[in-house]
Amino acid sequence: MIPEMPVDMDLIKGFLAPDEAAALYEQALQACAHGPVLEIGSYCGKSTICLGLACQRAGSTLFALDHHRGSEEHQKGEMFHDADLYDPREAVMDSFGEFRRNIRAAGLEDVVVPIVAGSAVAARHWNTPLGMVFIDGGHSLEAALTDYRCWAVHVVRGGVLAIHDLFADAHLGGQAPYAVYRMALASGLFESLGQVNSLGLLRRL
Ligand SMILES: C[S@@+](CC[C@H](N)C(=O)[O-])C[C@H]1O[C@@H](n2cnc3c(N)ncnc32)[C@H](O)[C@@H]1O
Repeated sequence: MIPEMPVDMDLIKGFLAPDEAAALYEQALQACAHGPVLEIGSYCGKSTICLGLACQRAGSTLFALDHHRGSEEHQKGEMFHDADLYDPREAVMDSFGEFRRNIRAAGLEDVVVPIVAGSAVAARHWNTPLGMVFIDGGHSLEAALTDYRCWAVHVVRGGVLAIHDLFADAHLGGQAPYAVYRMALASGLFESLGQVNSLGLLRRL
């Protein structure tokens, strides 16, 4: 359980189950001892708040990376499209305003550093070792592979790599995050810390 939750998480738009939220918080709290935390895929800030509260408690920093244009499934006409997050003037998805409101409401503006960019662009000159990386960006194979290749390399020994939306059964969900999770395990660079709901947890050896 996350102590002293400053906002009602049920009112924050997003894609994170309560047990996954608690697991992210616990893992980040430990991982902060190794370095700052970075997430790929903030959307409206649900996972950001869990990770951010852990960073706040540990005196660390959370880098929250998202281009805020939505993934494939958030686009107009797709299954998870939210018309409230659509900017009709620009004809694009834009979740950044909602994200900022939620981070402010949670009292995390001094902890969370938003990076409004694509994952590969943001990674290009990244040099900061990370205590934890949480991957929850695009769920196509190309996007998930890019996130893994760009960011897993920055997790320090003893740090944590968390990957959301793992479904061993293809009937339950897309297979790209699961493919990347298996790739991380097969690399010999990570050991499994188990799975909470659809959240896979790995420790960098
Ligand atoms: C499933 S949502 C994230 C949900 C969020 N973690 C939560 O707790 O509700 C995926 C997010 O990834 C972002 N995204 C997708 N591809 C991306 C990319 N290549 N670079 C940056 N962000 C990306 C989308 O804009 C979207 O907001």
